[in-house]
Amino acid sequence: NLPSKVKLVDVGPRDGLQNEKSPVPAAVKIELVHRLQSAGLSEIEVTSFVSPKWVPQMADNAEVMAGIKRKTGVRYSVLTPNMQGLEAALLSKPDEIVVFAAASEAFSQRNINCSIAESIQRFALVVQAARDKGIYVRGAMSCTVGCPYEGEIAPERVAMLASMMKDIGVQHVGIADTIGVGTPIKVQRAIEATLKHYAIDDVSGHFHDTYGQALGNTLAALQLGVWQFDTSVAGLGGCPFAKGATGNVASEDVVYMLHGLGIETGIDLEKLVDAGQFISDFLGRKPNSRAATALLNK
Ligand code: HMG
Ligand code: MG
Repeated sequence: NLPSKVKLVDVGPRDGLQNEKSPVPAAVKIELVHRLQSAGLSEIEVTSFVSPKWVPQMADNAEVMAGIKRKTGVRYSVLTPNMQGLEAALLSKPDEIVVFAAASEAFSQRNINCSIAESIQRFALVVQAARDKGIYVRGAMSCTVGCPYEGEIAPERVAMLASMMKDIGVQHVGIADTIGVGTPIKVQRAIEATLKHYAIDDVSGHFHDTYGQALGNTLAALQLGVWQFDTSVAGLGGCPFAKGATGNVASEDVVYMLHGLGIETGIDLEKLVDAGQFISDFLGRKPNSRAATALLNK
């Protein structure tokens, strides 16, 4: 008994593009968001309000947010690592903010330059300030099955991080396989650990596809009742602080699988493929999606 409906958050404009070496103009990012919303995405992770020294590609965050013609019913989310990021983000009126912590100590240091405990202290202020303004807060939990520096991550550490997120008022958590090393049973263990602290309606899966496991991991998550996933159009992406990690699972591949399972997404696959083709053309490469490739060669 799989869920009958699934919500996808396309994180392509943020997770997908953050690792691109050459600057992608704001106008291209805005057009990508427009194409994703016209394909039926109900939430788009647009950008991040992080330090431009750390992630230069996201330096145009405010310009991108200001340029989007918002569509009713669509939610626009942004990453905020600290109060400075939140204050800048608030001017752009996001529907949702995302704080991000790791289940791995070493990854926390490399990604946000502080320990897990320090990051939680810092986020506590961010979460409080956002919620005071009525903004929904999501937490991304990185490295929930494996870490590029520490190797395998035990489910107990995921449970620990989820409980810290809960304590500071994070309303929803994303269970991320940052480097795409997870396999279905390991991913299920990370989800079960999270479910000790969060209800099934308040968790999502965020799977990178480095080892080609992300669709299998998505199905494994669906079998536990998870119905919300982050995916990236054209399989764009990778994290600058996770060497060798590739993009998120391609949105097109997930939509193809879900529709094949009879699960509703509200997404028009053809238009989604078109959005992926648009950004891939700009980047000068083929979409990193098997479903898109098959449909484009039909
Ligand atoms: P820091 O250097 O420790 O921060 O960085 P600081 O407070 O000491 O500030 C240093 C400088 O950065 C100062 O500027 C600040 O103004 C500036 P200076 O005085 O030197 O000119 N600064 C900022 N500027 C703009 N916006 C801000 C901001 N904060 C400080 N918000 C910090 C700490 C967290 C800021 C830094 O490490 C950072 O920005 N990291 C970026 C991390 C990132 O974006 N990672 C990728 C996203 S996470 C991800 O991809 C995983 C996910 O997809 C889930 C998964 O797959 O696992 C979500
Ligand atoms: Mg990610």
